[in-house]
Amino acid sequence: MTDIARLKDKFLKELKKEKSPEKRRKICKKYIEEELSSVFCSLKDLSSKERAKVGEKANEFRKFVLEQMSSAKGEAKEEKEWIDITLPGEEPELGSSHPLTKLQLRCKDIFLRMGFISVEGPELENEWYNFDALNFAKDHPVREMQDTLFVKQEKRSALPSEKKLLMRTHTSPVQVRYMEKRRPPFRIIVPGRVFRNEATDSSHEINFYQLEGLMVGEGVSVANFKAVISFFFRELFKSDVDIRLRPSFFPFTEPSFEVDVSCSLCGKKGCSVCGKTGWLEVMGAGMVHPNVLESAKVDPEKFNGFAFGLGLDRIAIIEHKVSDIRLFYSGDLRFLKQF
Ligand code: PHE
Repeated sequence: MTDIARLKDKFLKELKKEKSPEKRRKICKKYIEEELSSVFCSLKDLSSKERAKVGEKANEFRKFVLEQMSSAKGEAKEEKEWIDITLPGEEPELGSSHPLTKLQLRCKDIFLRMGFISVEGPELENEWYNFDALNFAKDHPVREMQDTLFVKQEKRSALPSEKKLLMRTHTSPVQVRYMEKRRPPFRIIVPGRVFRNEATDSSHEINFYQLEGLMVGEGVSVANFKAVISFFFRELFKSDVDIRLRPSFFPFTEPSFEVDVSCSLCGKKGCSVCGKTGWLEVMGAGMVHPNVLESAKVDPEKFNGFAFGLGLDRIAIIEHKVSDIRLFYSGDLRFLKQF
């Protein structure tokens, strides 16, 4: 038996005794660094014939030890990475709908049950749909009433109002966009985000959500409006709330109303949410102005209807007694996780 064969024998015996892959790896390392390196060192003392023979055997053995070493290393790694599949897993954190989204869906659901359909329109609107088509006079100060975020455009003042861009200040432009392409009767709601050029405070944001409503047909009356809206609020608040209409002004409705709902929190007795009045102001509304029907190519002699605009944020603030509208847009999880 050659010295190398004897060394291999010894190596295998040592290896066999060791169960732990980490220790087996150490044995291999010892053989490479100590045993084999002394064999290679002693080669210089041999005759060239012997040197070639022993050298070849030693190299073969070295290769063998290295192979053992890398398989022990692999096993050691596997051992370290072993996972207990019987342990309970880490539960992924699930997101949830935003409180305003939830409210929007509840509102939609009630109107869909009354035969309304839900449609959408662009947030980047032009001046024609946002103002002109809705009977806002060209130079009337009412355009300033809603502080508008206009979009910078080259030679803007020379452009026709169809080309002048702005962020829509209300969802009402969708009334015209919807009507001009279809024939009455219409029953639609338009939930959506709107934008105003506001200095923000606890009750003002530069963007918020509205839910527009429009019902147009033959002989639609204010009584129809009251019936629809009373049903809506009773379903929404799950309580027998009352509705009150007060005269108001919007260029796109005539007559126009502010709609108040009796406070469902105190039952009209007066509380901090309703400012001790027993009533909550929740929407603007009115009978669609004939000029708006004309802009949308609907014959005002034959058809009429009502429209309303509900402020979703305001309803959410009332329902959840939220102190600051800006919380809805802050992305603060401590706030959002409460819903
Ligand atoms: N668009 C109005 C607003 O933003 C609300 C409204 C809608 C009023 C429809 C009347 C009819 O204040």
